Amino acid sequence: MKICRTKADIRAAVRGWKSAGESVCVVPTMGFLHDGHLALVARARAAADRVVTTIFVNPTQFGPNEDLSTYPRDEARDLGLLARQGSDAVFIPSVEEMYGSGGDTFVDVPQLSGMLQGALRPGHFRGVATIVTKLFNIVTPDYAVFGEKDFQQLALIRQMVRDLDMPLEIIGHPTVREPDGLAMSSRNVRLTAEHREQAIVLNQSLDKAETLAKAGSTVAELQAGIKAVLETAPAAEIKSIDIRDAETLAELDGHSTRAVVVLLAVRFGTVLLIDQRVVAPA
Ligand code: PAJ
Repeated sequence: MKICRTKADIRAAVRGWKSAGESVCVVPTMGFLHDGHLALVARARAAADRVVTTIFVNPTQFGPNEDLSTYPRDEARDLGLLARQGSDAVFIPSVEEMYGSGGDTFVDVPQLSGMLQGALRPGHFRGVATIVTKLFNIVTPDYAVFGEKDFQQLALIRQMVRDLDMPLEIIGHPTVREPDGLAMSSRNVRLTAEHREQAIVLNQSLDKAETLAKAGSTVAELQAGIKAVLETAPAAEIKSIDIRDAETLAELDGHSTRAVVVLLAVRFGTVLLIDQRVVAPA
């Protein structure tokens, strides 16, 4: 597995593969890898001849009061996991390498960036869109894999690629969960033992939403059903429960007969957990 710390190194590796006629798939991550990330790498292996995983904790997508400095990191472990999973290269640049000259250009997808999680985290999605564009320009992949767990992020990247005619295909991958249903996340390690136990309510509330949607419930009934399940966890601080059109993330009025996406943001102590599920009438 090639370990590339500079743009020049990863460009050279990709150039070699492309000149041999091989296709390339990128998996962007912020590291501290878990089985969810590794499932994306496996998906990438199936999509293309060569897989590049990127590891970069991107400062521009963290707000001033967010967890940039405490974001978990373990480079040696990540590199071992990626070698075993069959990533052909890892691009693991420093902040200096990525943003050395400062930069004055951003990629913004204002409508999708301003709603939902974006309204709670001003600037976050502008940082994501910009770093993902930079990574695409550096790696020049044919495919990129993103998790459905970050549903709004995936929708925004699809929109950006469409709008700017970026020459690659975006592949979405279903959320990978712990055996008890908690969506895998690098942030889960920061939950206290008690909060970790209670965090299963997110997935339980999505199960409830799925049952209610199948039975033809209204959006208001889904909302109430989800809230009731989340409230069974005494430490859960509900930040948002959003029920939106699964394609456009637009707001719904009353009763939807189409697929809707349930988007949850729930805090336990200092840790913000998100989860999602697309549900539809039977
Ligand atoms: P990160 O949170 O490290 O996630 C990297 C990728 O893994 C994202 O596409 C995310 O949706 C996916 N992922 C995380 N947990 C998952 C799970 N349980 N199941 C399936 N996929 C999962 O998302 C980011 O990093 C950053 O915003 C990034 C896109 C790298 C830009 O900096």
